[in-house]
This record gives sequence, C-alpha cells and structure tokens, in this order.
Amino acid sequence: MTNKPNLLSGMQPSAGSLHLGNYLGALVNWAQMQDDYNAFYCIVDLHAITVPQDPNELRANTRRTAAQYLAAGIDSEKSALFVQSHVPAHAQLAWVLQCITGMGEAGRMTQFKDKSQKSGVDSASVGLYTYPILQAADILLYQPKAVPVGEDQRQHIELTRDLAIRFNGRFGETFVIPEAVILKETAKIYDLQNPTAKMSKSGDPKGLVNLMDDSAAIVKKFKTAVTDTDGEIRFDREAKPGVSNLLGIYSAVTGESIRSLEERFAGAGYGALKGELAEVVVAHIEPIRNRAEELLSDPAELDRLLAAGAARANEQAEKTLKAVYDAVGFIAAR
Ligand code: TYM
Repeated sequence: MTNKPNLLSGMQPSAGSLHLGNYLGALVNWAQMQDDYNAFYCIVDLHAITVPQDPNELRANTRRTAAQYLAAGIDSEKSALFVQSHVPAHAQLAWVLQCITGMGEAGRMTQFKDKSQKSGVDSASVGLYTYPILQAADILLYQPKAVPVGEDQRQHIELTRDLAIRFNGRFGETFVIPEAVILKETAKIYDLQNPTAKMSKSGDPKGLVNLMDDSAAIVKKFKTAVTDTDGEIRFDREAKPGVSNLLGIYSAVTGESIRSLEERFAGAGYGALKGELAEVVVAHIEPIRNRAEELLSDPAELDRLLAAGAARANEQAEKTLKAVYDAVGFIAAR
C-alpha cells in the first residue's frame, strides 16, 4: 500500500468495554502511530475463546470493541481494522509455529501460569496454553516492525521474536523480527482498589475504569480509590502506589507532567486530587463513549468496515502464509 513500515496490534473482545489500561497503555499510542505506519489493528476473538465465552456476548463484544477502536481515533481508511477469525491464516500459521515451540518454552509464559492457576491447571484449556503462539502468528503474518502494547505483553513479544529468529534460521529468511513499542509512562495502569496490581477485566470491578462506563460511575470509582494515610501528594511507586497511580493517570490524560501536578497539588487533600482527576477523565472519555454508542447504532456499517479491513489483512496474511508453507516444504495446491 505504501512504503511505510508495517505495524500490528490487537485486543481481546472479552468484555463489553475496554478499560483505562487498554486505552492509555495501548490504544492512544495506536491512534498516534497510524500516520507513520501501515497499521493493522485486530480484534482477537480466537484468543477470547481460550476461556469460556457466551456466544451472544462474544458477538456483541466484538462489535463493541471495534466501535471503541474507531471512537478512540483509529481511522479505518488509514489502518486495516479487522476481526482475527475473518483471516484464516492466523490459525494456520499458529499451527506451524506450534511445531517449532518447545513445551517448556510455552509453559514458562507468565500469563498462562496466572490464568491457569485461577481456573486450576486441569480445567485450563490447551488453547490457553498455546495462546502466546497464536499471538506470535498474529504478529508475524503482517511482517511488522512495531507492536505497540502495554508492559504485560512484553514476554509474548519476546517469544514471538524467538520463534521468528528460529524459523528464519531453520527455513531461510521469512519473517521480519518485530519490536515491542511500550510507552514508559503508561506501560502499566493499576487497579484503583488494589494499586499494586495492573488494572484488568478480571480485577475488582470497583477498581476498573471502563471506557463505556457512565460518568457517575467513573466519578464514584475515583472517589473511592485506595490511597494511603500520610496525606502527601507525591509520586513514589513503592511507598505510595495508590497516589502514584492517580498522578500517572492524570498526567497521561492531560499531558501535564507529574512534577507540575505534584507542585500544583502540594498541600491539597487526596479528595481534591481525586475530584479533579475524575473530572478530567470524564471529560476525556465521554466523547469517546458517545461516539462508540453512535457507531453501535449502525451494526451493518460497522460490519462493512470490518469486512473491508479483513480484505486488506487477508491480502498481507496470505502472502506470508504462502511463503511459510513453501519454506517448510508443503507443496502448493493446484
Ligand atoms: P489485552 O486484550 O489483555 O490488552 C490489550 C492491550 O492493553 C494493554 N493493557 C494495559 N496497558 C497498561 N496498563 C494496563 N493495566 C493494561 N491492561 C492491558 C495490553 O498490554 C495490550 O496492549 N495477548 C493480548 C492480545 C493480543 C495481541 C496480539 C496484542 C493477541 N494477539 C498481537 C498484540 C499483538 C492481550 O491479551 O491483550
């Protein structure tokens, strides 16, 4: 399409809303990077079913995720916005990559360990175990230089690089070796109720700020955020994780530096910080939520955009898959 470098990233449609961690940790960066890259943004529904999903909810959440990507600034003209299951090459390449991945190597992935511990290893699916290899396939199909993600994905991108290097070494140069792009300041947004844990869909609902939450709910969540008892507004991740998380979110949303916030709020109470922060987050998120709701009122148009994105994605993915099949020694179908 252009001679810009390629970029790929994705999110799971496993909830009715993306959260502030998804937005500040990744989506904001996606919107900014789409001018300088030939970007592919995927909604990873194959990944979502590694844990049980209600089919009707999965359908709804896939469209809701697409609407939020668009509302947050992903431009479907500039970037290919698509659903993973619309591009069969993801599952096909994942199989080939599974065959060059060691059992121990897959077992060392910390997200698998965390999630399988929650459900109990015996009831965790094989899909959950091979999840990071499917992620590697998502990435490598698009020959991207950059993969913008939050800190929690670093290990998966490392595995992706290892598999690409291994494949190239064994079968000849086939894949571009991708780099994770992780914004230092927003690499990890923390749970408002448990500010040493990352904000996540599976965390405490009261500590989770969703893009699709109504404004009153957002204000309440910030007002009840856990802080500490020394009353000082200062950034110190170790000693003051709650206050530091609030300052980090404030800075990410408004662009005001942490230092300037510390000066401005010196001597003020936590209530003042929480109140003002709730206001700036609401003002920022409200237009995104409204735009997303508007897009959701026309599902046929959303589906049309996703079909156009899938056509672009399939073109690139098929090319890579063909090179892979050829390299490993599969004969071409005639
Ligand atoms: P997922 O759906 O859990 O999260 C989507 C993106 O949001 C980032 N993120 C966060 N960033 C900062 N603070 C947080 N609290 C926070 N929580 C989530 C994630 O790092 C991610 O960038 N395995 C991936 C989905 C995936 C993918 C891919 C990503 C599948 N294939 C290919 C990149 C490339 C995941 O579960 O993301």
